[in-house]
Amino acid sequence: MSLQAKLQENVGLSRLNTLSVSATAKHYMDVAGLDDLHGALAWAQESGQKTLVLGSGSNLVFAGDFDGLVIRMRIAARYWEKVDDSGATLVLGAGENWHEAVLYAAGAGYRGIENLALIPGTAGAAPVQNIGAYGVELGDTLVSVTALDRDSSQLVCLDNADCGFAYRDSLFKRSPGRYIITQIRLRLSRTQPLQLGYRDLEDYLGSAVSQDLDALAVAEAVMAIRRRKLPDPEIIPNAGSFFKNPVVPVEQFSELQAAHPHVVGYPYNGKVKLAAAWLIDQSGWKGYRNARVGVHNRQALVLINHSGGTGRDVLALASEICQSVKERFGVKLEMEPGIVGGTAPQLSI
Ligand code: EPU
Repeated sequence: MSLQAKLQENVGLSRLNTLSVSATAKHYMDVAGLDDLHGALAWAQESGQKTLVLGSGSNLVFAGDFDGLVIRMRIAARYWEKVDDSGATLVLGAGENWHEAVLYAAGAGYRGIENLALIPGTAGAAPVQNIGAYGVELGDTLVSVTALDRDSSQLVCLDNADCGFAYRDSLFKRSPGRYIITQIRLRLSRTQPLQLGYRDLEDYLGSAVSQDLDALAVAEAVMAIRRRKLPDPEIIPNAGSFFKNPVVPVEQFSELQAAHPHVVGYPYNGKVKLAAAWLIDQSGWKGYRNARVGVHNRQALVLINHSGGTGRDVLALASEICQSVKERFGVKLEMEPGIVGGTAPQLSI
């Protein structure tokens, strides 16, 4: 099919973002391989169109229409490399569904990403925010990322250290638009200990912790825990945790503790990572809803589009939550999803 035939005009994006907010892409193209990607970028440059690379839209908010070319990343690939007695390297095309890849690896007996089951999104988006859950982050197993560097127009291979991973952060997030991830490589193990120390997981597994668990059993436990607490975006549109857990100096945590003895925080790199969900919950937002959007009633960190809410409705609610947490606890919350489309909203987030 020619490039012209692949390019579409005025494509609705509500089914391409897990918050299900309405937005339109002026131009749109499904990209299934490197030729498509080069073609799409060359067309965008010639036509003076800005670009947005979209995976499954699980970590963004459309504040309005996208007046440019949306490149939907569909590059497929899933295979093993460097298989030996201790483990193997899993290669994933950027368009692969993350959760299916987790089940594929865990089902084959490989350990390392089972705690990341049921995280919505694609393999190519996973390194951007260094997805993490239940004591494990993508950066723990990622060997390298292949990406198109738009500064040099070259395909580059970035190893783990190059990616600059931190909590929900990476080189890709810090240099927006520069890299288009096409493939990732993960080193998985047959023998490493399972990570069962996160409290929810420990509580769920109970006495099974001491039994002979495998990676698939852990993935299934994580799925059950997530289903209990987190809304399924297919049924209740949401973008997962809407805010990062704020990291504050120990002194600030001590002051908070003096005023709020039950404040929840965990040691983190010589500082303290606060549970944003607790701060939001204590500020009275859990279960709140207006006509269109609201806060999940089982996890205060998750904002929900109940009924036809726009991206701006979601962002307005997020802004109110930020203000009230700031007033009550003196802590500034930072959004986890990115804002795209429309004009930059005047919100104090
Ligand atoms: N809590 C409340 N109220 C709530 C929910 C939680 O007070 O409504 C308190 C509880 O004390 C709980 C603590 O907050 O112990 C932490 O809650 P939870 O264990 O559910 O984890 P979280 O910090 O809210 C993070 C990730 C999630 C990930 C879970 C499990 C971030 C921003 N979020 O949530 O990731 O699934 O840990 O590891 O780090 C995501 O990024 O989209 C996401 C869902």
